[in-house]
Amino acid sequence: MEALGSTIIRHVVTTQRRQPEAGDLSGVLNDLLAVAKVISREVNKAGLAGILGLTGEVNVQGEEVQKLDEYANDIISKQMATSGYVCVMASEEVDDPIPAAPGCEGEYTLAFDPLDGSSNIDVNVNIGTIFSIHRKITQGKAGSAEDLLQPGRTQVCAGYIVYGSSTMLVYSMGYGVHGFTLDPSIGEFILSHPNIKMPAKGKIYSVNEGNHNYWHENTKRYVDYLKESDPETKRPYSLRYIGSLVADFHRTLLKGGIFMYPRDYKDPHKPKGKLRLLYEAAPMAFLAEQAGGRASDGEQDILDIAPAGLHQRVPLYIGSREDIDQAEKFIKGEV
Ligand code: AHG
Ligand code: MN
Ligand code: MN
Repeated sequence: MEALGSTIIRHVVTTQRRQPEAGDLSGVLNDLLAVAKVISREVNKAGLAGILGLTGEVNVQGEEVQKLDEYANDIISKQMATSGYVCVMASEEVDDPIPAAPGCEGEYTLAFDPLDGSSNIDVNVNIGTIFSIHRKITQGKAGSAEDLLQPGRTQVCAGYIVYGSSTMLVYSMGYGVHGFTLDPSIGEFILSHPNIKMPAKGKIYSVNEGNHNYWHENTKRYVDYLKESDPETKRPYSLRYIGSLVADFHRTLLKGGIFMYPRDYKDPHKPKGKLRLLYEAAPMAFLAEQAGGRASDGEQDILDIAPAGLHQRVPLYIGSREDIDQAEKFIKGEV
């Protein structure tokens, strides 16, 4: 039988053996990935449900069919609450901190976006799950919001699963970024993209141009700059926008360039744009820096922002180091 290659748990255990300070993440990730495989199966079936014309309200067995993101949230929350590895969780779908089951409190916290890009589910476009893991910092067994509200720089692990033409896991424990592809025939994530490095500069920009009229002046000036013709600086950049952060970031990680969700005037309740710090911007920023790239809110590194709330939104400029440096200069009005 041919060598299996490096499965994700073998990769985690090997990393831990070489970097004992990484702690014991194999248990957390093993449980999380078991759930990811179930979500991957459900995501793939969602299309079938559409074909079978299920109302999406009550299925043929008379069960309440939950929306896929509620389903993903429930299965992750339940699995990780009883895992014995996490003490408290934050989910995009739940207002307050989610405690571990009594007697199952562990030494890590987990923040997650159970299903990112859910508006794309019914058009069969890539969606994903994003996760961010910190160590517990408070005394006592139970975790609290204080354990969750740590700056992104103190993450011990972050990553995402992207459900697309194949299901891929991309993660980092602080020792580089590595990609694994799910082999459904054996249910294993196999190393397919070791040591991913983001190009220093790209030629793709990714933003929802439909918001152009709501952007601040400096954002408009930066995007207009990217569209000017100057072969020496690879301009005009190409525009690619999928509308799922996981998919747009995955392309940026592999090909370089910049993804941005700027602050805008569109919704007075969301002056800092749409994306959330804890379970979208911070985990992606951790991966970007580990891959040699950068992530900024336009003023400072995303990883240096001390979260004030579980669902705090931040503007996000993430991608190739030189592109983010330049975007920041425009947004700060320095050019
Ligand atoms: P979610 O489905 O978890 O709410 O996230 C959707 C986010 C993110 O995936 C994507 O980058 C962004 O919404 C797209 O927003 P617009 O449709 O406003 O461009
Ligand atoms: Mn999301
Ligand atoms: Mn979501």
